[in-house]
Amino acid sequence: MASVSLILGFVSTIIPFVCAGFDPSSSGNIAVYWGQNSYGQGSGSFAQKNLAYYCSNTDIDIIPVAFMNGITPPITNFANAGDNCTAFPDNTNLLNCTQISNDIKTCQKTYGKTILLSLGGATYTQGGWSSTGDAQNAAQTVWNMFGPLTGVQIDRPFGDAVVDGFDFDFESTVNNLPAFGAKLRGLMDAAVDKKYYLSAAPQCVFPDAADGTTLDSVAFDLVLVQFYNNWCETSNFQVGSSTQTAFNFDVWDNWAKSSLNPHVKVFLGIPANTGAAGAGYTSGSQLKAAIAYSKQYSSFGGVMMWDMSQLYANSGFIEEVASDLSVSSSPTATTTTTMVTVTVSTTSSSGPSSSGGTLVAQWGQCGGQGYTGPTQCQPPYNCVSGGQYWSSCQ
Ligand SMILES: *[C@@H]1O[C@H](CO)[C@@H](O)[C@H](O)[C@H]1NC(C)=O
Ligand SMILES: *[C@@H]1O[C@H](CO)[C@@H](O)[C@H](O)[C@H]1NC(C)=O
Repeated sequence: MASVSLILGFVSTIIPFVCAGFDPSSSGNIAVYWGQNSYGQGSGSFAQKNLAYYCSNTDIDIIPVAFMNGITPPITNFANAGDNCTAFPDNTNLLNCTQISNDIKTCQKTYGKTILLSLGGATYTQGGWSSTGDAQNAAQTVWNMFGPLTGVQIDRPFGDAVVDGFDFDFESTVNNLPAFGAKLRGLMDAAVDKKYYLSAAPQCVFPDAADGTTLDSVAFDLVLVQFYNNWCETSNFQVGSSTQTAFNFDVWDNWAKSSLNPHVKVFLGIPANTGAAGAGYTSGSQLKAAIAYSKQYSSFGGVMMWDMSQLYANSGFIEEVASDLSVSSSPTATTTTTMVTVTVSTTSSSGPSSSGGTLVAQWGQCGGQGYTGPTQCQPPYNCVSGGQYWSSCQ
């Protein structure tokens, strides 16, 4: 009997997009929120489609799924995508979403995307937890619901799909959020199945009223700073000026380098369409210049956009952002040690200054404990208190 020699071929693994997914060493990441159908169409070509539809877009790396807008008790809301889910019988505010589950797996396996679950949003009103212990228990619950399968009996909205991390998008006070964040970070770091990422989406006003103390006490991998709806937004970037009086990416870069994770990536968060996310949409040469300027800071990780439905209704915009990101930054001002020569001039400044005469735009900060910026609103807006740390022009 002749011996049969077997030639073992290599089992090749298909790696479709080596560049897809969050790359902590890149300044060209693009993150786009999905889930809220913010463009607002209930039907037709601009209505929000299922998650995997967008994952075939090779410009997109990270998709925060929005929102888990209640934690204790748990609540989910995915706008029209929720219509394809069913409520859990014992947890009627929580959606059992087989389609999103399958889509997350497709986005991860076929397209290599990083899928985060975004916690909070503007409709989160639970105010956090009354003790650190309650906050830690809530973090464990969120982990059991969306993290690796452990055999714990719990309603899992995305079934056996496992997200790649979590995003904190809290816009109001959340008591004991640092304890919640620290517990979640600990669970993520202890996991062995894959690397999990922790993200936050503060407003550009520094420090952020809702997430500020958590940003300083927990290590984050990426912060998707909302450079919109506030005075510090991208539309107030002064093209051609090496120092900025309103746009404050430099402040966030400083925070990043002294934070618990000095390698945290800071994203330039922008509206994906006119009117998306309120005020502050920019495009064309203004956006290109703001991206080139931000790219000079070593913490710059890329661009975040709100949100997917707005982006897909704005033909050509993602290609524009990707193109802006691909331009290499100028070698000057790349380090924090760059000397800035301040020329004292008697002519009037071409842009707003922090002293008299500056008027704050709608939604911009105009007051609050610790705030030292301009306090006068642009007409017809008035400065309205939103709590101890926050007043804005409305
Ligand atoms: C809902 O499911 C239908 C049928 O699979 C699909 O065509 C549609 O895109 C889904 N909608 C969303 C928002 O996921
Ligand atoms: C969630 O939905 C799936 C598919 O419809 C179903 O098989 C499963 O039993 C549901 N889970 C619960 C706990 O209701």
